[in-house]
Amino acid sequence: MPLRLGVNIDHAATLRQARYARDLESILVEPSPVAAALIAEQAGAEGITAHLREDRRHIQDRDIFRLKESLQTKLNLEMGNAPEIVAIALKVKPHDACLVPENRNEVTTEGGLDCVTHRTALTETITKLHDTGTVVSLFIDPDPHQIQAAADLKAEYIELHTGAFANATGDTRTHELHRLVEGARQAHALGLRVNAGHGLNYQNVRELFAVPHLEELNIGHAIISRALITGLATAVKEMKALCEEYPL
Ligand code: PXP
Repeated sequence: MPLRLGVNIDHAATLRQARYARDLESILVEPSPVAAALIAEQAGAEGITAHLREDRRHIQDRDIFRLKESLQTKLNLEMGNAPEIVAIALKVKPHDACLVPENRNEVTTEGGLDCVTHRTALTETITKLHDTGTVVSLFIDPDPHQIQAAADLKAEYIELHTGAFANATGDTRTHELHRLVEGARQAHALGLRVNAGHGLNYQNVRELFAVPHLEELNIGHAIISRALITGLATAVKEMKALCEEYPL
């Protein structure tokens, strides 16, 4: 199966909020994360990811509803397991939901979800999401206990957190890549499907291709940043071309 590219459009909203957070009704408001999502789809993205954070620092509620209405591929809603956000997810009914840990002071998602500690709360949310037809993914570190817990929780997918790999150098990087390889093997053996994301860019993504069983990469910052220079369609096409090198 070819490796799919999911484009995370949070940072289109970050740029909008930097100027218009207090005046989202202004006719001047730009850039539109929905317009960015549609361009990404036309350029070959197989899905769009957006994270509705509790602090609403980038994506807003109505972005999510508009994305759900407008996308021709699929919406992957990234979400913390907070009652308010879960209630929105149950209304929106995204194709996929990726449960992530959320900490108000972080710059971006740090570390994976702890599926062992939060097993009970996660079971409840996963059941509700499944009941509305949403496919569930759990964003976790490549840790054997977490992977086992994700399988026990009956999530369809895990998204392996590639941040530690992306940030490491030298032997630590080799070690982190090895953990991802082993994690993907374990997940696959347990019947879980495997995605990956966080910190991936045009330089490190080929190295990640040593990891087997990958179905989808979710990439945001690198693509939106390159888009400022090349335009979004080119930035997406360049990442898509790299994804096509993934060994089948
Ligand atoms: N996947 C998950 C679960 C994330 O939380 C993020 C960051 O929002 C990404 C992928 C994309 O990370 P990046 O912006 O570093 O590509």
